Amino acid sequence: MSENIESVLHEERVFNPPEAFAANARIDKARLAELHEKAEKDYEGFWGDLAREEIDWHKPFTRILDDSNAPHFEWFNDGELNVSYNCIDRHLETRGDKAAIIWESDEGDSLTITYKDLHDRVAQFANALKAQSIEKGDRVVIYMPMVPEAVVAMQACARIGAIHSVVFGGFSAEALRDRINDAGAKMVITADAGKRGGRTVPLKKQADTAMEHGCPSIEKMVVYRRAEGDVHMEDGRDVWWHDAIDGQSTECAPEIVDAEHPLFLLYTSGSTGKPKGVQHASAGYLLNAALTNKWVFDLHDDDVFWCTADVGWITGHTYIAYGPLAVGATQVMFEGVPTYPDGGRFWKVCQDHGVTVFYTAPTAIRALMKLGEDIPRNYDLSRLRLLGTVGEPINPEAWMWYHEVIGGGRCPIVDTWWQTETGAHMIAPIPGAEPTKPGSCTTALPGIMADVVDDDGNSVDPDHGGYLVIKKPWPSMLRTVWNNEARFRSSYWEKFDNKYYLAGDSARRDRDGYFWIMGRIDDVLSVSGHRLGTMEIESALVSHEKVAEAAVVGRPHDVKGEAVVAYVICKGDRPTGDEAEAMTKALRDWVTQEIGPIAKPDDIRFTEGLPKTRSGKIMRRLLRSIAKGEEITSDTSTLENEEIIPQLQGKA
Ligand code: WT7
Repeated sequence: MSENIESVLHEERVFNPPEAFAANARIDKARLAELHEKAEKDYEGFWGDLAREEIDWHKPFTRILDDSNAPHFEWFNDGELNVSYNCIDRHLETRGDKAAIIWESDEGDSLTITYKDLHDRVAQFANALKAQSIEKGDRVVIYMPMVPEAVVAMQACARIGAIHSVVFGGFSAEALRDRINDAGAKMVITADAGKRGGRTVPLKKQADTAMEHGCPSIEKMVVYRRAEGDVHMEDGRDVWWHDAIDGQSTECAPEIVDAEHPLFLLYTSGSTGKPKGVQHASAGYLLNAALTNKWVFDLHDDDVFWCTADVGWITGHTYIAYGPLAVGATQVMFEGVPTYPDGGRFWKVCQDHGVTVFYTAPTAIRALMKLGEDIPRNYDLSRLRLLGTVGEPINPEAWMWYHEVIGGGRCPIVDTWWQTETGAHMIAPIPGAEPTKPGSCTTALPGIMADVVDDDGNSVDPDHGGYLVIKKPWPSMLRTVWNNEARFRSSYWEKFDNKYYLAGDSARRDRDGYFWIMGRIDDVLSVSGHRLGTMEIESALVSHEKVAEAAVVGRPHDVKGEAVVAYVICKGDRPTGDEAEAMTKALRDWVTQEIGPIAKPDDIRFTEGLPKTRSGKIMRRLLRSIAKGEEITSDTSTLENEEIIPQLQGKA
């Protein structure tokens, strides 16, 4: 992205915070101005005050930001705390009988877990982990369905200072194995199977395959029984969850850790190589998780919050497993999918549990919008007061539908920009204080110094595209890429000399300073709101015995955001007809097996060559245009093999 990125989106509508909402909001205009001013004038003091207010410290900190080892910034690093204590124990006196989690299963049963119950479950499982010889600093991989035990397992790790790494249940055995090995995990916590949309997902079987393919660091596997199916239990290695907790006490003193003690790893796609193990630290992460649940979701004691993300993604960490608990909220956790048993499921869950604050992804909104407004109109959505989105830019049409049909025109929409690496919301409206514009994630939160800059790091003029950066460290920033210092530096810090954090997105700001995200600057696709590295999918394809070379690009897709298009060169002759069809199926299955169904190419096009420059680089921009079906207007004479274009277009 060296030439300037021109922006094409123009959206003029502005929605002011509804008066009724603003009247009760935690942060009003005056308070917001005060927070911004404090952050500008006394950056460290701003974060220090908030850290003292929001967190219960075992030992108070005296240092706020330590930048002596930049870009490894540290926060509050002489303080001590326990994150699980802050999410659970500190609420017991005032909120012990309050619902922490209202879980609804795929089949429609529900279960309420109070803060007291959660405490007992977490403490008991924490003791079980210790009994299975998990110690502070050990890595534990969690590969679970959306059951409360997933949160219990995460909180139990935090309680004893073990470092969890949740792997999304939709990832394949191979993807699971790679993450286990990179993390050097000692234990996997999984379930016999998961239930999603009426189907059974064989998690234990996949975990077994991962073990067979080599996970030398794994000593134990804990298996939660969800589906009552038959699974293999390996003698000496595997133990049922119910057996592991049997006889364990429901008291477990939280392990006090340093503020910077790693809380978790979470793997995310990058443009090159394997997924990166993004490492977060305890106190800083907890602070932004708690704050954004108050500032952006405006959570009050009587709210019922529902974030529809899976715990396998960062959204499910910050807005299910940690943040809502840190602020003592009640939340819904849902095991199923939006369209099972029918397209009214989300709205039924909102109605049945009286959801007041609802957070989902644009891809889900678009999918449900396609089913028509009659479905949501059948449900009572009058309790909703705030709506949120995350994962990709929301198109104004979907924004308006969400606003009118779901929010009844009365609920502000918070479009929240952030990343696995940022830990919590960075750019998002404060709903009682800031006007919103459909398609814009609005402005940076207090203390988050986001900007759009050119190649030299200078702020660009309004309505010009550039690199989205964050100019000062913030508490919930990633601390490193696990086992890969070089990638930590090259992905985020080298571009702007360790001074600015490079988010990897392009963006523009309009004349009001509002941010509009334009897309990724690297070769990363956004499929249903999830980052997929094109390179990862390419490596999976070329690892198939019949594939010589592959290039993957994205094509706009009206529900998923982007669809995966793969250009594949096979060994031997280019397959055509039935042979091509069989090969397409084989490769789609192969990618599903290697990475998981979300990475499965939507289109596979067989070719005899890829468009390459004379220096041998694949011209991705050209492939993207071809995938979109655009006319090729740019000069292709610098290509080494111009004659391949008609074949790529399917014309030969
Ligand atoms: C990438 C981060 C953060 C949780 C979900 C995905 C895109 C995220 C928005 C938004 C436009 C967005 C960006 C970002 N993204 N939120 N509100 N508007 N784009 O987490 O997998 O780490 O992906 O998602 O491209 O860099 P992730």
